[in-house]
Formats: sequence, C-alpha cells, structure tokens
Amino acid sequence: MWDPKVYQRYGDERSRPFYDLLARVGAEAPAHIVDLGCGPGNLTASLAERWPDARIEGIDSSADMIDSAAELPEARTGRVGFAVGDVSTWTPPADVDLIVANALLQWVPGHRQLVRGWADGVRPGTWLAFQVPGNFDAPSHQLLRELAASPEWAGQIAGLRDSGAGWDPAEYAGDLLEAGCDVDAWETTYLHLLPASSSTPHPVLAWMEGTALRPAKAALADRPQDWARFRDQLADRLAKAYPVRHGVVAFPFRRIFVVGRKR
Ligand SMILES: C[S@@+](CC[C@H](N)C(=O)[O-])C[C@H]1O[C@@H](n2cnc3c(N)ncnc32)[C@H](O)[C@@H]1O
Repeated sequence: MWDPKVYQRYGDERSRPFYDLLARVGAEAPAHIVDLGCGPGNLTASLAERWPDARIEGIDSSADMIDSAAELPEARTGRVGFAVGDVSTWTPPADVDLIVANALLQWVPGHRQLVRGWADGVRPGTWLAFQVPGNFDAPSHQLLRELAASPEWAGQIAGLRDSGAGWDPAEYAGDLLEAGCDVDAWETTYLHLLPASSSTPHPVLAWMEGTALRPAKAALADRPQDWARFRDQLADRLAKAYPVRHGVVAFPFRRIFVVGRKR
C-alpha cells in the first residue's frame, strides 16, 4: 500500500538525504548501479546525470511505485530500468559497482544480516550506500504507538515501528568493517520546517501518511470511518507535540548514513 503521490508530498525534504548520501560515494565511473527500494524512481533517475555511462536499475516491491517510475522520461527512453522485486531475496550481481538503498532498509526484517550478506558477496571496489531513519523514538512515532495501544485501538493495528533502540551508525559501520569495507558512517538530524495552514491536515500527519502511518491505514482499510477517527485522534496529539509557529511546524528528523567500499 505505497502511494507514490502521498509519498512525494514532501519530495524536497525526502530527497535531501539521498543527495547527502551520494555525495560521499566516490565511485568515478561505475558501470552498473542498482537502487534498491527505488520508490517512484525520481532519485534513481538522478543517478544517470552523475554517471551518464552507467547501466542503472531500480528495484521495488511495490507495483504502484514501479508503475509510477515507468512514467519517468528516463524510463521511457530506456536510460534507466525499473522492475518489481523483493530485496529480501535479492543478491548482488557479479558485475555491480554501486548498491544504493535510500530509506528502504527500515522496512525489511533482518536488514543488518541482509546488508552484511551483500557486503560479503560483492567484488573488491564495489560501493554500498544506504540511509535509514533513526527517529523511531521521536514524538511522532511515540504518539502513534501510544494511540494504537490505547483501549479503543489495542490489538487492531499491527506492523508499527518499535522504539529505535539500537539504530546506531557505529553498529552498521561495524558490520561493513567486518565484511572488509572501508566505511564512512554518520548521522544527521534535519529540521524540516513544514508549511502549515488551517485548511490542510497537520503537516506531520501528512508526512506520516506517506510512510509510518501506512500499516495503520492498511489495518483499517475496510473500516473507513474508524480510519478517519484514528487519523483525527492522532492529528490532535501531533498538533500539541508539533505546534505551528510562524506559519510552519518544526519537525526534527534524525537519519543514519552508511557508505562502504569493499577493499
Ligand atoms: C520510504 S520509500 C523510499 C523510496 C526511495 N528510495 C526514496 O528514497 O525516495 C521505501 C520504498 O521501499 C520499498 N520496499 C519496502 N520493502 C521492500 C522490499 N522488501 N523489497 C523492495 N522494496 C521494498 C517500498 O515499496 C517503498 O517504495
């Protein structure tokens, strides 16, 4: 239930970590690049500008996302290829030079072992670059978990994020160092200033509808009135935690970045 339009509501804010991640990838002329969990494909397509001679593939498990990506000019001309696929069963092709996974791995159970397997499997010189959110203890996630656990909703909504304990750049760095990579790992807390108005939903709610709220929406999909009530209750809580000031809501968002190059 990924909706490309809802996901791209905050396209500028969501794309910035991708560019910050790629800025630390020093590959000069990669021949084959794979963007895992490519979503609507706009960021995958941007890789073709930096590396015009590379063969570039985007893979995503959501058919809706891949359908949206297939409409991009780069897909229509065959410059970038997009395909539906599940990264949990994906293995790096022998000739891959750069694997990118931006804002994907938090959705994949056992992702640390998965990434470790990719790092073990690639040839020397291959780059791996991934970014995951590290905000699972932020008020937005805590309020969502608290509401889902409240007497009215308890037991009805599965698949929400647990607390963020353990989401640590040093741990990811350790995994890649053990696999024989040189590593660059860091974290950043962005302060997104999201425009607010009385005629539109609270911006943090609008942001979460593209990502963290999807499991709740899916759980209540056949009960639209319940979904509307749940959403309203969350909006009230978010409005208190993230008040509007100067016409915007300040939304801090921690993210973890890891770049490795196989020695
Ligand atoms: C938050 S979006 C990120 C999209 C894109 N990388 C970006 O930065 O804009 C996460 C994407 O991961 C995809 N995804 C989640 N689990 C997946 C899996 N097991 N295999 C492939 N894609 C997956 C979703 O369909 C979604 O498009």
